[in-house]
Amino acid sequence: MTLQDALAAARARLVAARISTDEATVDVDLFARRILGWDRARLLTELRGSVPTGLEPQFTAWVDRRAAHEPSAYIIGVREFWSLEFAVTPAVLIPRPCTELVVEEAVALLSEHPAWRVAEIGTGSGCIAVSVAHSVPGVRIVATDLSADALTVAQGNAAQFGVADRVTFVETSYLDGIAGPFELLLANPPYVRAGDRPGLSRVVQHEPDVALFGGESGLRDITGVLDAAEATLTTGGWLVMEFGYGQEQDVRELVEARAGFEVVRVRDDIEGIARTAVIART
Ligand SMILES: C[S@@+](CC[C@H](N)C(=O)[O-])C[C@H]1O[C@@H](n2cnc3c(N)ncnc32)[C@H](O)[C@@H]1O
Repeated sequence: MTLQDALAAARARLVAARISTDEATVDVDLFARRILGWDRARLLTELRGSVPTGLEPQFTAWVDRRAAHEPSAYIIGVREFWSLEFAVTPAVLIPRPCTELVVEEAVALLSEHPAWRVAEIGTGSGCIAVSVAHSVPGVRIVATDLSADALTVAQGNAAQFGVADRVTFVETSYLDGIAGPFELLLANPPYVRAGDRPGLSRVVQHEPDVALFGGESGLRDITGVLDAAEATLTTGGWLVMEFGYGQEQDVRELVEARAGFEVVRVRDDIEGIARTAVIART
């Protein structure tokens, strides 16, 4: 059997498990390259050769897990974000490309104000705080999460990217017990409505509830982040917060109900969906 035959059989297996052909192709290629330590060019040149020793039994085990709709990031244990390869486990949300908008806005603000004190609420894998610290030399960030297991993953990522001395991780709700004030707050809070659970993809259903669900309205933690901003953000400070599909109006109303808070801009993601609110305290 050639490597090409083995990859085709694995692809067929995933398609039979109702994974799209495009996704199956990407995943099978990713699994093989990851296990063999090859780049795509090497995989292509070796396709007509025999199945390399070392591919199995890992390859079949990973294809089995993917056929059960486990996300490929949990299977291989990493996901790229902000051009860094973050370790991920089922204790953390898998970083999404749209969340890079939060990092982009934070880096732009901090490039003008490198001494600002920064906090992130709900750090998960640490992808936001670690990416910001990696891009802005000298910046210090306090990053919180309710989940001790998530914080262990985040700490590992901070160490991996050389920022462990500048990102302090704290197990708490929002910013409870943390002495502010801060000039910049960052958050990608859980924002899925509890009632939307049945419509989530089988992949998303593998992610932790605590990272996904924002109560009946989906707005519980967005409100919690705004309360924390009211309690800890300086006048002249900023909050950059991601929110869910269809929540822009709700976010605007929640922000504008607070004296001195204003939505300065909302960023759309690559699909044109409003995703990120950049909020000023004046
Ligand atoms: C949507 S995930 C975001 C994770 C990561 N920041 C990212 O963007 O990929 C939300 C995170 O908030 C955490 N979380 C939920 N409720 C929280 C609370 N009350 N206080 C702090 N963290 C919370 C969850 O454990 C989860 O890690």
